[in-house]
Amino acid sequence: MATVKHLLKLMDLSGAEIIGLLDLADRLKAENKAGIPHPHLAGKTLGMIFEKSSTRTRVSFETGMYQLGGHALFLSSRDLQIGRGEPVQDTARVLSRYLDGIMIRTFAQEEVESLAQYGSIPIINGLTDFCHPCQVLADLMTIREHKGRLEELNMCYIGDGNNMANSLIVGGLKTGMHVSIACPKAYQPDARVLALTEEYPGQFFMTDKPLEAAKDADVIFTDVWASMGQESEKAVREKAFAGYQVNAALLEAAHPGCMVQHCLPAHRGEEITAEVFEAHADEIFDEAENRLHAQKAVLVACMK
Ligand code: CP
Ligand code: NVA
Repeated sequence: MATVKHLLKLMDLSGAEIIGLLDLADRLKAENKAGIPHPHLAGKTLGMIFEKSSTRTRVSFETGMYQLGGHALFLSSRDLQIGRGEPVQDTARVLSRYLDGIMIRTFAQEEVESLAQYGSIPIINGLTDFCHPCQVLADLMTIREHKGRLEELNMCYIGDGNNMANSLIVGGLKTGMHVSIACPKAYQPDARVLALTEEYPGQFFMTDKPLEAAKDADVIFTDVWASMGQESEKAVREKAFAGYQVNAALLEAAHPGCMVQHCLPAHRGEEITAEVFEAHADEIFDEAENRLHAQKAVLVACMK
């Protein structure tokens, strides 16, 4: 069975480790659908620290822990002492004495890395400004379900070079996909991710022209133009991203049968048209469902 110490970012995992997690997720999903119980984490408690809002991450982690025979605690940073300035290094050492694992959604990636450094239990990144590894595991799982494989498929991302773009690039390249991304020059992915793409010659392409990136795509991703924490930049971003919409014209450049994925929440009429969203709703909600199964795999791999 797959084992990993933490899930801080996909950059820390090998391609084989990512595939191992996806295989475990497939197995857990099949057992779940067949009604076969799998109490791998009986008696264990996951703390879930949220410094940003969430629908999917919160509900899927809490349900996932329950289905694995364990228990999840929702910890809002508004109520924790961390929100009043208690250092993360101390929080990590205290929570390590009570819990068996921590899932955290926050702003700075460094906070997640510090929890792992100072704590003694597995840490799972439930989204930072830098990356969203749990989401991308669910995304890769969904592509594999629909297309039967990942290797050699063309993944395309249109929009902001944000946490989703960073994780999709890393996850796609490590599992053998070709990744193309279209983003405005001022909104490119993180420099650490762009440096990593150099280790995958011929597998990565970046442009500021959406139609070029979408050419022959097997799956197209997009995400909101203004992420959590960037609300004040909304107007500026609406201008910068005006041409970066997943719409019918863009899909014409892709392979016939191209999938569309969106981590959600979606803003219809901004990064995606209502028409494309609804035409691909089954794929998008499979993707949302797979958060549950992919994260259960992460929980088992880290905490069992
Ligand atoms: N996609 C995602 O992470 O959704 P939430 O913000 O609702 O958790
Ligand atoms: N990029 C988005 C993803 C939400 C799941 C954000 O960070 O708000």
